[in-house]
Amino acid sequence: MSEKKLALLRILFMVVIVAAVALVGMALVPADSLATLTGKPPAPPEEVRLVNIMHRMDARIERLYHSGYKEEWGEARDNLAELGEIASLLYGQDVYWDQSNISAVMESLMPQQIDNLGATIDRRDREAFLETYRTMVAVCNSCHRATRQLVVIQEPPAPRD
Ligand code: HEC
Repeated sequence: MSEKKLALLRILFMVVIVAAVALVGMALVPADSLATLTGKPPAPPEEVRLVNIMHRMDARIERLYHSGYKEEWGEARDNLAELGEIASLLYGQDVYWDQSNISAVMESLMPQQIDNLGATIDRRDREAFLETYRTMVAVCNSCHRATRQLVVIQEPPAPRD
């Protein structure tokens, strides 16, 4: 790829990250009115408990990384589909953390990330896949920062053969 194209891509990724962080910030405005009207939101069922979904997503993105890294595109496609399934368990569920509707923010952020990754897998473009993967991780972490989580998702070490 030419220097110019690369520079353009970098700028594009920065824009995506900045937009994602702004989105998270906007969507995390506390839902005070709702919370004071209804008291604490009811505990969600086990399968949509945040911590469970977060753990499952975390395990899945690691497998996704490894398959993309090794250019096992069929595997990568399956892992991505699974990640999409796990994330979608939250959509429309009104699952809160503190006073933030995490499910709504997830729904506004994750489908785009998944589509972007899917496009790089379709193109079998390893460099673009890795770059897009890093953008997704930045999105995970932008929400963790916004909700003051200590967890920082990192790119896994390069897999050994
Ligand atoms: C919209 C906000 C948001 C997004 C996006 C998000 N998370 Fe989280 N994450 C949270 C919150 C809130 C918690 C704390 C949940 C709890 O402790 O109940 C958390 C906790 C975690 C934890 C720690 C779980 C533990 O043991 O305490 C992991 C791991 C995690 N997230 C992974 C991810 C990954 C991987 C992604 C991206 C694919 C992601 N998260 C995207 C909000 C988010």
